[in-house]
Amino acid sequence: MSTKIRYLTAGESHGQALVVILEGIPSGLKLTKEWIDKELRRRQIGYGRGERMKIEKDEVRIISGVRLGKTLGSPVSFLIPNLDWKNWEKIMGADEVENKDVPAFTRPRPGHADLVGGIKYNFLDLRNVLERASARETAARVAAGAVCKKLLHEFNIKTFSRTVQIGREKDATAREEAIESYERIEKSPVRCLNFFTERKMIELIDEVKRRGDTVGGIFEVIFLGLPPGLGSYIQWDLKLDARLAFSLMSIQAIVGVEIGAGFEASSSFGSEVQDEIAYNETRGFYRLSNRAGGIEGGMTTGEPLVLRVAMKPISTLAKPLRSVDIVSKKEVAATKERSDVCAVPAASVIGEAVCAIEIAKAMREKFGGDSLEEMRKNYLSYMEYVRAR
Ligand SMILES: Cc1cc2nc3c(=O)[nH]c(=O)nc-3n(C[C@H](O)[C@H](O)[C@H](O)COP(=O)(O)O)c2cc1C
Repeated sequence: MSTKIRYLTAGESHGQALVVILEGIPSGLKLTKEWIDKELRRRQIGYGRGERMKIEKDEVRIISGVRLGKTLGSPVSFLIPNLDWKNWEKIMGADEVENKDVPAFTRPRPGHADLVGGIKYNFLDLRNVLERASARETAARVAAGAVCKKLLHEFNIKTFSRTVQIGREKDATAREEAIESYERIEKSPVRCLNFFTERKMIELIDEVKRRGDTVGGIFEVIFLGLPPGLGSYIQWDLKLDARLAFSLMSIQAIVGVEIGAGFEASSSFGSEVQDEIAYNETRGFYRLSNRAGGIEGGMTTGEPLVLRVAMKPISTLAKPLRSVDIVSKKEVAATKERSDVCAVPAASVIGEAVCAIEIAKAMREKFGGDSLEEMRKNYLSYMEYVRAR
């Protein structure tokens, strides 16, 4: 049994299924298919998504690692079948077919993996690249993230995410208010708290769609209830801020990550940025502000963890950009596939998932244990020690 959480995903966008193997989850964690499906559903909704989301309705099939509603401590594995597979079997199947039966995709889209992937792996049909580079793969990560979120819930760690910007439309509502009214965010088609801004964001998505264009934005991911001391300052690759940024940057189309005050801190003075330290009997050590966003020296401080993540506009445009056909070398319009116009709300759910995986990993490193009970004992003993400091 390993206390190290690690996972791999496999599967092509229009392949038979996505596959996930997740190792390092302790035994005794209650887990249901419904819990995971709920997270998959959250990833699929959102204003601005393409037609495919209506066909998909993702559901997980738990293959191993769970028995009678509880984890076994062995690798948990899932399949997320592609419900449209019957229409793709000839194009994406493993069996050899005549070349003429499958038209090649030869017009690379700027902003995608198409061109460089084709050169690197020596393909003349760029479908071989885009099928795996596609953000469809993130459904697998959301499934793994759902298990990790369930583990974090056992330790009273809560996860939130919301859209704070689409294009130039910004929601400046305070974070505390957003957490308090989280149900409203969950119901918003763009995951935005403010009604007025929500309307503006929807109008913008509609307008951009009419123009054959796409739009990006910024989402926020928040974790509450983290113990102090997850991650470490002692080695570069143990620093939790670095690990979270890595995970978030690995999501398709993510172009930037801020923690706490982030880029704004660079143009402020030290006195405006650092969080002063205070102490009282009930709370122990705490901060008078949280501009660090809950991390100092690569470790959680115990304050809310706050990340802001920038997503570029979707690369496939209904009014395509210029490209070059990789076979004829002639100028052409880039391929247009059925595509999203804006996927910031979905990306925020994926952001939650990848951060939950990274935090669950750090929790397992800190508290170990083969069973959930053993892990909980270690956690409680550490928290008692922290309180007594
Ligand atoms: C939730 C989500 C949905 C996406 N949907 C699309 C899409 O429909 N069409 C598209 O061209 N790109 C889409 N993307 C972005 C591409 O997957 C991404 O830009 C591409 O794989 C290249 O990777 P890179 O942008 O990280 O370099 C989506 C990204 C996310 C996170």
